[in-house]
Amino acid sequence: MQRRDAIRLLSLSALAGAAGCANAPDAGAAARQSATPGFVPDVEFTLTAAAGEAAIFPGAPTRVWRFTGELIKGPAGTLQGLPGSYLGPVINLRRGQKVRVRFANRLAEDSVVHWHGLDVPEAADGHPIHAIAGGRDYVYEFEVINRAGTYWYHPHPHMRTSAQVYQGLAGLLIVRDAEEEGLGLPGGDAEHLCVLQDRQFDTGNQLVFRGDNMMEMMNGFLGDRVLVSGRPQPTIEVAAGWHRMRLLNGSNARIYKLAWSRDLPMTMIGGDGGLFESPVRQTVLTLAPGQRADLLIDLTGIAAGTDLHFESLAFPEADAGVVGMMGMGRGMGRMMGGGASASAANGAPLRVMTLRTRAGAGVRFRVPDRLSRFDASWSSGAGARTRQVPLVFQQMQWLLGGRTFEMNQVAPDETVAAGSTYIWEFMNLANGMGMQAAHPIHMHGRQFRVLGRSGGQATNALRAGLADAGWRDTVLVLPGETVRVQVTFSNYPGLYLYHCHILEHEDMGMMRNFRVV
Ligand code: C2O
Ligand code: CU
Ligand code: CU
Repeated sequence: MQRRDAIRLLSLSALAGAAGCANAPDAGAAARQSATPGFVPDVEFTLTAAAGEAAIFPGAPTRVWRFTGELIKGPAGTLQGLPGSYLGPVINLRRGQKVRVRFANRLAEDSVVHWHGLDVPEAADGHPIHAIAGGRDYVYEFEVINRAGTYWYHPHPHMRTSAQVYQGLAGLLIVRDAEEEGLGLPGGDAEHLCVLQDRQFDTGNQLVFRGDNMMEMMNGFLGDRVLVSGRPQPTIEVAAGWHRMRLLNGSNARIYKLAWSRDLPMTMIGGDGGLFESPVRQTVLTLAPGQRADLLIDLTGIAAGTDLHFESLAFPEADAGVVGMMGMGRGMGRMMGGGASASAANGAPLRVMTLRTRAGAGVRFRVPDRLSRFDASWSSGAGARTRQVPLVFQQMQWLLGGRTFEMNQVAPDETVAAGSTYIWEFMNLANGMGMQAAHPIHMHGRQFRVLGRSGGQATNALRAGLADAGWRDTVLVLPGETVRVQVTFSNYPGLYLYHCHILEHEDMGMMRNFRVV
């Protein structure tokens, strides 16, 4: 039994290694290499994916892959570079804008760009079926119909998403609108954009990614250093007033249990799909890969020169799941990795960043009781049909709804009518060997409502501060839990994805299509 599993692992590993050479099915892409004549964009820019360098540590620069952009048309400030970071430019958009992106793939392998959280036509969604080979171009066109919020973009080629994001291909996409601007939230240098990513580096400052270690890939690849928007554990000087932090967990596989030193309370004002209806106060925040959080902190009255640390608190590794072959756990993968670098387990305490107060007054603010108004679809769940989607590890694979990814395949229960509302129930089951992991489940193009959770371990340390409020596009399903979400499908017909946002799970096939008809 063990031997057969090992052989199966080896062949999977060979498959993963070969994926970089897979041919892009560019039947669909052919039509998208030029702009649509009738589409008049308000914003147009190029976005190039290519190899580059970033000065992350003193000494040798780190070789990365990165997005760079150039504005062709639109307001100045649409593309905001992050100096010194490997991340792509922050794309600043407004609701209602029509956007054209001229993507140039200058990598030596297939790629495609996905706009995580945005409701866009299929041809613009970055499905791996639309991946293009290195050296080729693709035109994305869409209208920003989403609410104001913190979204992001990253590559999505089948079996190569984890490697490409890890090398640095990702960026924030921020949507603003009049409703949000009416609140006068802290902005300018009191608004912080924090993309949390963990990485491993070798002694020469180069990224380490052991994509050939199947044990690590099954668990999800973890680093031992946390970078915030490309900078390792930064210290930022701030005024002693109110601050807005937009957080994205852009890590491949790490779940953070975030808290401030001094138990500084966080006023949560938004999540994946923009502002909440009203603020929520909490002191810990569980943020899974793919998820965003928008929060305010009040440093008013704190003496100049005070350090406030933002930490990922310790939690038992098993709360994020136990994966392995016949009792070989997550630690095994780390041991087998060897070399100069090693991963820190999920649940290892890690410092994320530090805010150091400086002298002088900061932004004053009063948090309103009402932040935004949700549309009627929020309460459209009555009478909606329920679909059960088990999450389980079987035959050495992570399965979603009992199936693995097929590029073109959609099952009858994955076919939905445009604008229809469903309850999807994600059931995180143990397999016969007790193997189970926490999975952040993401749906493309949709912001859904988390209706509730049942099952699982009452003592799971990740339960405190789960990011379930408001509109979500990614929900963390803890071991043993069933999470019910209410989703109203897009009005755009086409082929879209739902998957686990542990990028290694996604690459190994914990991903499926759904078709909107
Ligand atoms: Cu951010 Cu299909 O994912
Ligand atoms: Cu997405
Ligand atoms: Cu998963």
